[in-house]
Amino acid sequence: MLNSSTGRCPVQGRFDPLAPGYIADPYPALATLREEAPVFYEPRLDMWPVTRHEDVKRILTDHESFSGAITQTPFYPLAEEAKEILDAGFHATPTVSNCDPPKHTRVRAFNVKAFSARRVAGLEPVIRAYTTELLDAVASRSRFDLVRELTAPLPAKIVFSLIGFPESDSEALKALALNRMAFTWGRSTKDEQVRIAGRMVEYWRYCTDFVAARKEDLRDDFTSDLLRSHLADPAALSVEEIVNVIHAVSFAGHETTTNASSSTLQRLLAHREQWEEICADPSLIPNAVEEGLRFDPSLHTWRKITTREVDIGGVTVPAGAKLLLLIGSANHDPARFPDPDQFDVHRSNSQQHLTFGRGIHACFGAPLARLEMRVMLEELTARLPHLRLAADEVVRYHENACFRGPVQLWVDNPSPA
Ligand code: HEM
Repeated sequence: MLNSSTGRCPVQGRFDPLAPGYIADPYPALATLREEAPVFYEPRLDMWPVTRHEDVKRILTDHESFSGAITQTPFYPLAEEAKEILDAGFHATPTVSNCDPPKHTRVRAFNVKAFSARRVAGLEPVIRAYTTELLDAVASRSRFDLVRELTAPLPAKIVFSLIGFPESDSEALKALALNRMAFTWGRSTKDEQVRIAGRMVEYWRYCTDFVAARKEDLRDDFTSDLLRSHLADPAALSVEEIVNVIHAVSFAGHETTTNASSSTLQRLLAHREQWEEICADPSLIPNAVEEGLRFDPSLHTWRKITTREVDIGGVTVPAGAKLLLLIGSANHDPARFPDPDQFDVHRSNSQQHLTFGRGIHACFGAPLARLEMRVMLEELTARLPHLRLAADEVVRYHENACFRGPVQLWVDNPSPA
């Protein structure tokens, strides 16, 4: 919106998703943006932030005007040295979120088939058993970090087992994935970028070798299902596309869920009366999960690029404009969610959040993420209902333009077993 006396947008040149105050609590700034400049050009980012639920939803669902081509492009420019390492050994090509139809439609159909409801539901006992194992390890401690002990290890282990990665490779893979999210959506130094780029090349090589080996030894997992589709009709789905999918899913499937679970736990424990309510009545847990997903979407932003000139909320945006969809703002839009900054496990329309996207790219891992979050909450509330946020801890969030979640979540356990 333009200021009528100066003709300038009042927020242009000031929006910084990595500003410390914004990282700590973005919601007051987002409320101001929704009011004063729901869609504007930010020269510091060369992007157009979009804040309102209605506009973000429309962009997510109109793939002809809004392409996903830039979803995985580094948010901030990379150092030349890091680019050279990637050029030499990291060969990911647009296949999933950064791919447009018709290729996306073709590849996604195989993914959805292999990521079947049966396969996801079959994981519930595995998720529950692993949650129990993780809680066994901390139940006797009077203080521990929930991120380190629960919300980080669980989604990684589950998505790796779904893909079929050998359990013995888990730790090495996690080390290779370290700081990957800072590489693409954060600001890292040249030396860090070079180190991360080297690990990305190794990770890519691992995915390539893994898919080649699994092709000769099909089993009961997501990768083998994709390979069966390839073997039935090699022209319909290539091995290279499968490598890209495995690479994408192995990342998309854990940090997202870790952050969503950590944030949800933080909000629930901070609203003690709501934590006690879900402990007393576990049937409230599925909606508590939805409210957690709404309140602090772990992908707080997502990017699309316009394929033509388009009107968004009354603002003319040119073709080729990079849009920054502020999902965290859309989920706090009072036009959709009354009293939006109130965390409320009874909210009747929490599930209208845009946390998993919408339209042709809508997250097909959402049922798994929801299942993991539900099981974690069921087991935690049953086993450690007296858990409290550590009184002296200030929660620190990742310094990231896309991913939102607490770095650590220290809790006191007043009744160690
Ligand atoms: C709370 C956890 C999660 C969140 C917040 C999340 C969020 C998202 C979002 C916002 C998108 C993009 C939608 C778009 O481009 O319009 C997406 C796509 C995707 N997600 Fe998730 N996700 C989560 C968990 C998962 C899990 C567990 C998996 C897999 C195991 C997964 C796999 C994917 C894939 C492969 C895509 C690309 C789909 C496509 O382009 O067709 N996600 N997710």
